[in-house]
This record gives sequence, structure tokens and C-alpha cells, in this order.
Amino acid sequence: MAAELSPIDQAKFVAARRSVDFVESGMKLGLGTGSTAAWMVRCLAERVRDDGLEVTCVATSTRTVDLARSCGLKVVSLDDVKWLDLTIDGADEFDQNLNLIKGGGAALLQEKIVATASDRMIVIADAAKEVAQLGAFPLPVEVVPFGWQTTKALIEETLYSLDVLNREVSLRMAGDAPLRTDEGHFLLDLNLKRIGNPRQLALVLNQIPGVVENGLFIDICDVVVIGQGDGRVTVR
Ligand code: 5RP
Repeated sequence: MAAELSPIDQAKFVAARRSVDFVESGMKLGLGTGSTAAWMVRCLAERVRDDGLEVTCVATSTRTVDLARSCGLKVVSLDDVKWLDLTIDGADEFDQNLNLIKGGGAALLQEKIVATASDRMIVIADAAKEVAQLGAFPLPVEVVPFGWQTTKALIEETLYSLDVLNREVSLRMAGDAPLRTDEGHFLLDLNLKRIGNPRQLALVLNQIPGVVENGLFIDICDVVVIGQGDGRVTVR
């Protein structure tokens, strides 16, 4: 399956394939969103088919629900199961403390709810996602549409009060209209270049009225499976 892939897709694929080795029969699983998570869903479906594994899945986006069901996986709602054994998801960036930026695929809210409701979270990523300091990837913040420009101004003011030097905030678009998340919210992308104190920023952003959730995942991820373009995999 991996022979004709570009190096980046090969890296995502090998990380995804390795991650499903952590799945055991009977588990309740959270399925992430994004291109790496999509590989994982396909690899998981293969294990279910070939190894007779029985798993119940909760997906983090309508895209992943559709993919998982089309691969023959059993998908239920989080409210059906309430708690999960393991979530496997991608990330936009991770640092040496396994803190993450997520939300490049606009699914951060459900992803954070599902990961937090799991005993363990495994992140699967190509090696380019590893950074010394989070922030080169714009930080997604999910906001309610009502008064979003006021919310944006409050975020900018908060960044200023935290002495954040780069604080470019933009509304994510889908063509000519603001992108809507699965929950009907808007996304603001915060181009900060460097995030000095991710824990503080995550807490402060969520205090602002209108902010639903931010894409900083602090102390949520337990393991990162890192794939390389040449097929090597590291588990950290
Ligand atoms: C979606 C996410 C994705 O996990 C993240 O954007 C990584 O995506 P990809 O695997 O396509 O690089 O957070 O909201």
C-alpha cells in the first residue's frame, strides 16, 4: 500500500500503521481527524478485518464518521459510551513535553472533548511536526459567530497584555464565507510565531467570552508515534 506514496504521506502512513498496534480487542476508541488520522482509520479497519478485533469507535468529525463507517467500523456517539480507552489522532505541532497544537483540520473542539474523555491519547505525526517551541503553526481558536469581531479584539488585547510580540489574528475562510466547524462555530487563527507559555495561554484564552475552545492540548497526549519518509518509526 505504501510503495507509491510521497515521503510525507509515507511518514504519516507508517506512524498510523504503527499506532494501531496499541489497539486491543474490546477497546472503545476515539478516532481523530486529518490526513494522518485517515490513514489510521484505514489501518484499524484492516486489523478489524484481518485479526478479528472487536472495537467500538467514537469519531471527532463528520468526515471521520463517514470514513470510518465506509471502512466498516462501528461508530457510536460519545454519549453512548461516555469514556474511552484510547484516542489516536494527528497534530499540527508537538513539543518535547508532548504538548500540541491541533485544529488545522477545524475539528479541535470534538478532538479535545474526545481526547480528554480517554484513558490515553496517542498522537501520530510525521517528523516535521516536532518543534522546539510551539507557535510556528497558527493556533486555531474556535469562537461563536455572535460578536466574533469583539471576541477577536478581546483576544488581541489579551495577547498584548501577555507581551506576545506577534499577534496576527485572522478569520478562517472557506471560499467567500467564514468556515463553519461541525458545531457551527467560526475559527480564528492566531499567528504568534512562538508561544512562550502554552499552559498559561490555553487557560487565558478560554476565559474570554465567545471563545469555545483553543487548539492547545496541554498534558493530554501520552505517546507520540513519529513517522519518517524512509519508513522509520519512533515511539516517544
Ligand atoms: C484536525 C487536526 C489534525 O489532526 C491536524 O490538523 C493534523 O492533520 P494532518 O494529519 O492532515 O497533518 O488537528 O483538526
